[in-house]
Parts: sequence; C-alpha cells; structure tokens
Amino acid sequence: MSACSQEPIQELSSGQAVYEARCSACHGPNLEGRVGPALDANSPSASMPDSYWIQTITKGKGSMPAQRLTDNEVELVIEYIKSKY
Ligand code: HEC
Repeated sequence: MSACSQEPIQELSSGQAVYEARCSACHGPNLEGRVGPALDANSPSASMPDSYWIQTITKGKGSMPAQRLTDNEVELVIEYIKSKY
C-alpha cells in the first residue's frame, strides 16, 4: 500500500456535514445565498432535477468550481438541501 495514493479528503457521513464543509461558505448556512445564489425552496434550482444538481456540483457551473465529492456525498448533500424546503 502506498501512502501517496491516499485521498486527502475524508468522506463525510451526513449531508449536513457536507453542506457545512463544502457549500455554506458560498451558498450561506441557511441556503440564503452569498457569493453563490440562494438554494432555498424559492430559488430556481429548487425545481431542477437531481441530474442538474449532480452536474453542477461535480462539474461546476460558471464561477462555481467543481466540488470533489464522492457519489455518496453528492447524494447526501442534495437530500439535505431538499429536506430544508
Ligand atoms: C466557491 C463558492 C461555491 C461553492 C463552494 C459552492 N458553490 Fe454552488 N455556486 C456558486 C456560484 C458562484 C454559483 C452560480 C454559478 C453561475 O450560474 O454562474 C453556484 C451555483 C450553484 C447551483 C445552481 C444554482 C442555479 O440557480 O442554477 C447549485 C445547485 C449549487 N451551486 C449547489 C452547490 C452545492 C450543493 C455546493 C456544495 C457541494 C456548492 N454549490 C458549492 C458558488 C459556490
């Protein structure tokens, strides 16, 4: 086993932890938006399909950089955001 190939980022286990660590600085702790747009129930993204969210999170969009997250973390964070609507 080579230490060099270890992933530097440890997988986060809840959607809330992922959101706080990776999204809230730009989208606000309560989805209200900051440098990034609001992601709350009244935002355009609320009516977008999961595929749009996955694409935006993993590939980035405009001035949003792609977020390096596992598939599981992406699923958890989308679930967390939608549970706040
Ligand atoms: C470095 C700041 C930054 C981080 C970190 C960030 N975003 Fe963004 N995000 C943005 C910006 C800026 C935009 C607007 C991009 C554009 O349309 O040009 C955006 C756009 C989005 C959109 C599309 C909104 C729409 O109305 O189409 C979604 C969904 C989104 N972000 C989700 C997330 C999630 C979930 C995370 C955490 C995993 C995250 N973002 C992390 C800055 C960020």
